[in-house]
Amino acid sequence: MTTRLANRAAQVLPWRLDCHVAAGNDRAAADELRRGLSARRPWVPARWFYDDAGCALFVRITALDAYYQTRTEEALLDACIGDLVVSHAPTELVEIGSGAARKTRTILDAMDHLGTLTRYVPFDISPGAIAVSATQIAAAYPGTRVHGVAGDFAHHLARIPRRRAGDRRLVAFLGGTIGNLEPRGRRTLMRRLARRLRPGDALLLGTDLAHDPGVLVRAYDDPEGVTAEFNRNVIRHINTAFAGDADPVDFAHVALWNARAARIEMHLRALRPIEWSIAGLGIVLPIEAGAAIRTEISCKFTRAGVEAMYADAGLTMTGWHEDDLGRYAVSVGTPS
Ligand SMILES: C[S@@+](CC[C@H](N)C(=O)[O-])C[C@H]1O[C@@H](n2cnc3c(N)ncnc32)[C@H](O)[C@@H]1O
Repeated sequence: MTTRLANRAAQVLPWRLDCHVAAGNDRAAADELRRGLSARRPWVPARWFYDDAGCALFVRITALDAYYQTRTEEALLDACIGDLVVSHAPTELVEIGSGAARKTRTILDAMDHLGTLTRYVPFDISPGAIAVSATQIAAAYPGTRVHGVAGDFAHHLARIPRRRAGDRRLVAFLGGTIGNLEPRGRRTLMRRLARRLRPGDALLLGTDLAHDPGVLVRAYDDPEGVTAEFNRNVIRHINTAFAGDADPVDFAHVALWNARAARIEMHLRALRPIEWSIAGLGIVLPIEAGAAIRTEISCKFTRAGVEAMYADAGLTMTGWHEDDLGRYAVSVGTPS
């Protein structure tokens, strides 16, 4: 508590942002997108949701009644973070896919209260989202260094700043974002995150659970139409990044439950025949009326599945916190 009071009197430190992504100028991202759009069943990597407009739409989604995930995760964090922070006493928080970093406050408050918080590292594909959250967090936690990294978690994890001697790291990966990856990408990412953990560190993971398909579909197809707008914004984002010419209004938003793969999928279905010219990718995509582009997978998990994911990455699941309705879980993994 003494340290906390001392920190309150401390200076607001200038934050830093290292940017490793540039829209339209990222060869690996462009190649992946071209491959996805040119596939027999076209698809788009989830990162294309998140330009500034997409990040703002996602913040609106998190406040929707249908989108139970955010408020449930927040309540679970509230309930479990005190014990986690006391047992690991982390000095820094690295947050993967940090977005608006609202729930992050729950974790930072607990670290601040314990007097261990020295640094916050938000890592996200969106430099704009990091800039906003870094400004707010640096101001709210005087004396805390905020060092943002704008990068793709598939390519730039090595750009996370090194720790100082004696630092203990808590890595948070919230919002169910791990579910946006196919099993192979998920395994690779978990292994890479695990390799960066040292004894005493911990990984805090938010996962949406497989449950009532009706509730799940509604969370991705809200009556207010915000998720539909978020989905169509992918077209706008790609147009801007790669000089494309499709009109988002020519696509209908579709959300469905794929029971075999235990995942929600979002698609954009063409309402008329479209020729989408994307000059920056060097492609013209003919899309028949009724044909669809898959824009998101959101895999839903079981406790056993999450435990197996930790084990595959060389971690042990040391905490599992699930809401009463069995919809969402926050879990903790530590180096085995
Ligand atoms: C589902 S949102 C979750 C945001 C926030 N953590 C929350 O729980 O509300 C996913 C976040 O991951 C980021 N993201 C998506 N793909 C990414 C990638 N390939 N690399 C880094 N960040 C990514 C997005 O910009 C977005 O902020």
